Amino acid sequence: MLNWEDPLAGVTGKSVEAELNPNARRLAELRGGQAAVRDIRKIATEFQNDVAEPQYEAGQGIMASGDARSGATGLESIEMGARRIQVDDKQIINCRADLNQLVPFKYRWAWQKYLDACANHWMPQEINMNADIALWKSLDGLTEDERTIVKRNLGFFSTADSLVANNLVLAVYRHITNPECRQYLLRQAFEEALHTHAYQYVVESLGMDEGEVFNMYRELPAVARKAEWALPFTQSLGDPTFRTGTPEGDQRLLRDLIAFYVIFEGIFFYVGFTQILSMGRRNKMTGTAEQFQYILRDESMHMNFGIDVINQIKIENPHLWRKDFQDEIICMIREAVDIETQYAYDTMPRGVLGLNAGMFKDYLEFIANRRCAQIGLPEQYPGASNPFPWMSEILDLKKEKNFFETRVTEYQTGGVLIWD
Ligand SMILES: [Fe+2]
Ligand SMILES: [Fe+2]
Repeated sequence: MLNWEDPLAGVTGKSVEAELNPNARRLAELRGGQAAVRDIRKIATEFQNDVAEPQYEAGQGIMASGDARSGATGLESIEMGARRIQVDDKQIINCRADLNQLVPFKYRWAWQKYLDACANHWMPQEINMNADIALWKSLDGLTEDERTIVKRNLGFFSTADSLVANNLVLAVYRHITNPECRQYLLRQAFEEALHTHAYQYVVESLGMDEGEVFNMYRELPAVARKAEWALPFTQSLGDPTFRTGTPEGDQRLLRDLIAFYVIFEGIFFYVGFTQILSMGRRNKMTGTAEQFQYILRDESMHMNFGIDVINQIKIENPHLWRKDFQDEIICMIREAVDIETQYAYDTMPRGVLGLNAGMFKDYLEFIANRRCAQIGLPEQYPGASNPFPWMSEILDLKKEKNFFETRVTEYQTGGVLIWD
């Protein structure tokens, strides 16, 4: 059982009116933002460039077959007698060396993240949901606003994690041409499956209408909006004719990685996580909150892996990180802050659980500053502060490790096998 401290106990929500007026303003801003989404969609599919052709030297001539410039897939015919792989043959995109050989490692940070992720293994069924079931079924255990928060977030996350997994497997994986990074991507894909499983497990445990929850992103604009924003980026990459190996193609990949790792998993998940974890800190829906805490821990690592990949691509391909491209990414991040702030207003029209939507505006600006800094962009919201310092504590990796050391389940034992 998690220990829920409550430093927000003294914080009360602002007046309803104070929240509704900014809400209308946000709606207007969002309409402007949707025009920008269309622009980005256009850019993502029709990007024109005038930069010099990059030189892709490392690994050239090693791959037995395939496109002249795009990377290997790992499915090429075996080239008997080919020389052994050297570290310098490896590169994160457009690598043409054999992708079926994990070692020698070049990107040890990727391998370490794979090991760390495996050490944090968990399963949704391990978490006791009895208190949640009793509270959810009681007539006066939760307010309508609290019920809305639970339902909307299950509605958003239950399909969002599938979207992330599909982007990973169908769009991103093929173009990351490094075996140790792919090893982490495979682990991440499994974790996304676990997250979808966790939401299904909560829905089933609480006896919710599963059709209502899983179809919510096709019924409620507040839930649909974030997936709608992200889809053009993965659709662009999922095109079977898409190839990296040109500045245009490589920027498309980089744009998708930033849209999903930095924005979707790094900004769009944070209102929902904070709302559900706040509930747990107030001793409500503690099983659901514990599921979300494990998921948040995984998501934090996904995002950090994605940021490492993005920065490695920048290091190896500095010609991609042009000023106009940076401006476009800043525009995407600012737009994401507006969309996620709108989600806070939609899911929380009044102050609840010591939270209000205005606090999330501050929080999202604080997070966006961090995301910008992490990929080498200037901070966009000077002076933004964090109203939820306890969220950072939850994400502290050292604490995570200690926390996992206390768990009863020992995955390393390998379970019990019976050989007939
Ligand atoms: Fe996930
Ligand atoms: Fe994730």
